[in-house]
Amino acid sequence: ITVPVPKNEQLNSYAPGSCEREKLKKALSELHNDFVEIPAIINGKEVKTGNFGNCIEPHNHQHILAQYHKVNKQEIDLAVEAAMKARIDWEEMPFYHRSAIFLKAAELLSTKYRFLLNSATMLGQSKNAYQAEIDSACELIDFWRFNAYYAQKIYEQQPLVSPKGEWNFSEYRALEGFIFAITPFNFTSIAGNLPTAPALMGNTVIWKPAGTAVYSGYFVMKILKEAGLPDGVINFIPGSGAEIGNFVIDSPYLAGIHFTGSTKVFNDIWKRTANNIHLYKSYPRIVGETGGKDFIFAHTSADVKSLAVACLRGAFEFQGQKCSAASRLYIPDTIYDEWFKEMVEMLETVKMGDVMDFSNFINAVIDKESFDRIKNYIDYAKNSPVAEIIWGGNCDDSVGYFIQPTLIKTTDPMFCTMQEEIFGPVLTVYVYPEKDFSKTLDLCDKTSPYGLTGSIFAQDRKAILEANNVLRHSAGNFYINDKPTGAVVGQQPFGGGRSSGTNDKAGSALNLQRWISARSIKENF
Ligand code: SER
Repeated sequence: ITVPVPKNEQLNSYAPGSCEREKLKKALSELHNDFVEIPAIINGKEVKTGNFGNCIEPHNHQHILAQYHKVNKQEIDLAVEAAMKARIDWEEMPFYHRSAIFLKAAELLSTKYRFLLNSATMLGQSKNAYQAEIDSACELIDFWRFNAYYAQKIYEQQPLVSPKGEWNFSEYRALEGFIFAITPFNFTSIAGNLPTAPALMGNTVIWKPAGTAVYSGYFVMKILKEAGLPDGVINFIPGSGAEIGNFVIDSPYLAGIHFTGSTKVFNDIWKRTANNIHLYKSYPRIVGETGGKDFIFAHTSADVKSLAVACLRGAFEFQGQKCSAASRLYIPDTIYDEWFKEMVEMLETVKMGDVMDFSNFINAVIDKESFDRIKNYIDYAKNSPVAEIIWGGNCDDSVGYFIQPTLIKTTDPMFCTMQEEIFGPVLTVYVYPEKDFSKTLDLCDKTSPYGLTGSIFAQDRKAILEANNVLRHSAGNFYINDKPTGAVVGQQPFGGGRSSGTNDKAGSALNLQRWISARSIKENF
């Protein structure tokens, strides 16, 4: 059996006048006007609890798109039971059939549900058309196709030595229990990947989507069902985070956790799992991608125009709500003025507003809590003697949760907006004397607990080499003369170490290997 060699899904540009643009606009207006009631999905059945949460449009927060049924302990028990019941048949289903389901889901998304899922992501998570196309169309399709391809490579195992009279081989089993997938709001693709990667390897899953992305997650579940995913393989349980998480982690049948979210929540998960260790049959596999404080480091030889474009896109696309988003810039005094001029020229043309208007580059941040957190950082910088707002800084939540792209300049490399993850459209700039390049590289490495993404901008090869070496552990995804965001499945496997996660690269064989357990078999003749 050979899984087709995947190619990255092609981006639609939604150019003015294109029929794709018209189709997307039609899907957007249909979804906007169509109220949806979202059940939990347990063992393939819709489960309604009557305990509702709201899905709103962040750019228009009075508009309720959907209400979802929040699960309680009782439904979690049902989900665990369903996952445990489905796992035997699912694991025994030949890989060819399991992968066919996800390849079919990719095909359905590519050809039939692309505009629908993009619209759900745009409305529910406030992404512009371009960012939604990258996320809920291309990246999710790529995850499904590339994972099937990489899984096949894993199953094509290394041959073992079989001395005369013996036959030795390995088999890769699913884990003995269920996997708990906890997914974030910021990428529909990550939300779709976290439950399906373990499922592809023969595991059954309980999936808790972020409350602010239940809407797009529900459509992902529908696509998987239409693609033929058997009942009980992925059980969808929306509800309030910590409470559900604790109930699920306390189950003795837990075999693994696939998480994307904050470092704090991931730490809490490890602690709770550790305290429960006597309960479980095996040591749970814990895979997580967490926070970041991602940097762009400029050398005096940098091409200033491309540096500015990288800052604009890396820091402000999707309102900076990417764990990979550039949020600290180290720039030498020699090129600062020129860089700032380029930034201002571009920022003056950037439009902010509703997702329905495709000319808006910036939309809203996800919810009131995020809005308040980001605004607090900006206000703190406004009042600090060591920082100044050099661009933006306006926040307005009267209609939607809008935060203007903001540049903060600081003289203190330890200033809180240089150190803490803000998860919003804020880039802090630290200007260093050109002669201190090496010293500042060291500072960039030593002063952050994170290790997710980062970039060096330089034309001078010796500077690139030095940055590459000093920053070896500062970023799991390191970019040379490019922005630190936008990893593509099959091109830049994604993830980082330190407090940014377990670095089990999403969309690669390294990640899929965490969801299997090998058995060595020897037979004597
Ligand atoms: N994979 C995304 C990026 O590289 C972040 O999750 O930007």
